[in-house]
Amino acid sequence: MTRDLSLTDAILINNIQMSSDYLQNLFAERIGGKLYGKDTAVYKFEKIKRAKRAALAANPGAELIDMGVGEPDEMAFPDCVDALAKAAGKPGNRTYADNGGAVFKEAAARWMQNVCGVSGLDPATQIVHSIGSKAALSILPACLINPGDVALMTTPGYPVFGTHAQYYGGEVYNFPLLEKNQFLPDLNSVPAEKLRRAKTLVINYPNNPTGASATPEFFASVVAFAKKNNLVVVHDAAYAALVFGGKPLSFLATPGALDVGIELHSMSKGFNMTGWRLGFVVGHPLLVRAYADVKDNTDSGQFLAIQEACAYALDHPEITQKVAAKYSRRMDGLVAVLNHHGLPAKKPRGSFFLYVKCPRSAAGKDGKRIAFERAENFSQWLITDKLISTVPWDDAGAYVRFSVTFSANDIADEQRVLSEIDRRLAGAAFEF
Ligand SMILES: Cc1ncc(COP(=O)(O)O)c(C=O)c1O
Repeated sequence: MTRDLSLTDAILINNIQMSSDYLQNLFAERIGGKLYGKDTAVYKFEKIKRAKRAALAANPGAELIDMGVGEPDEMAFPDCVDALAKAAGKPGNRTYADNGGAVFKEAAARWMQNVCGVSGLDPATQIVHSIGSKAALSILPACLINPGDVALMTTPGYPVFGTHAQYYGGEVYNFPLLEKNQFLPDLNSVPAEKLRRAKTLVINYPNNPTGASATPEFFASVVAFAKKNNLVVVHDAAYAALVFGGKPLSFLATPGALDVGIELHSMSKGFNMTGWRLGFVVGHPLLVRAYADVKDNTDSGQFLAIQEACAYALDHPEITQKVAAKYSRRMDGLVAVLNHHGLPAKKPRGSFFLYVKCPRSAAGKDGKRIAFERAENFSQWLITDKLISTVPWDDAGAYVRFSVTFSANDIADEQRVLSEIDRRLAGAAFEF
């Protein structure tokens, strides 16, 4: 049924049209300028969302096993929540935190010593909190990147530092992370012209999405590479605490690392605190100061009560040990199931990511072979045919990332989910 437009409706529509034409010319080039908002490409995570919705609509009541989620499936531990409730009631915690919060800085220094074996850090000059590592990665390029500078990064990876480096007129050079190099960058592979303009090297271990861990030898080669080429190293250690044996490996434990770099730690993954938005930047005092100066012009700091509760968490490293033990157990189960169906999954040494090479083809429900040109096709097929969601990566080979953060209420439920995956993959007859 059509309805005649009233005069007010017509004026309103006309005004909206005029104001969006007017605004369209005002967007910055870095977000698309005049074309901002007109891009019709559908991006990876939106495609996954749409496929999940369609699969559930086609299979009403079915369970979609979501292995695509990049964050913990559980709440923060009850004693941390209690610590937050207590700290939130203290009048002294009500103000802007800015770059302050000595309680958290001191706990972070203790944690670096007790858990990562990095001693002698001065909490007053070498540690400043972040409103999560994402915020720190978005702030740091302002400290370091001039137009024309090159930011060395790794791909596949977490792109936030590079996006902001580009906002400041910088350029990104990505090292591909390849299985044949244990998903470590081949530092010698960067073209001389890029290296000459390079200012920063951002690395991330345990790595998202490959799950790979660094070694002390690799970190030593990073320090030597940075010193030789005059680079600042930013080690994004968001998954540092999630290791399946031994102690977390801090870049700052490497001889000489404190001369060239900083490390970013986060409460999000290892302490089930993604929504709490807290992390810290630690390392060379001058780099930490530069970060704090730009941060001061960006945000007003995280709520001191959150900082206090997170200080409590840092003083209880058994929390992350329990969380890591859960992921380790789930990894063992998932690797066994995927191997059972011929998928070449190998348990990583940390993180919650299992990065698995894509098959060339599989048998569909009707027995006919389906070819996968890219990881994206494989991932879409897993959602549509098997109701199993993963994240595809086609940046350096075709892989899918399974996260062992799927929802399960307890160990028995975990086993049920894993058996269900096993059942759904039966007959897939993957070919490589
Ligand atoms: C590699 C990596 N770095 C940083 C972050 C951001 O973590 P935070 O919650 O501390 O902002 C993530 C989150 O997914 C990540 O995967």
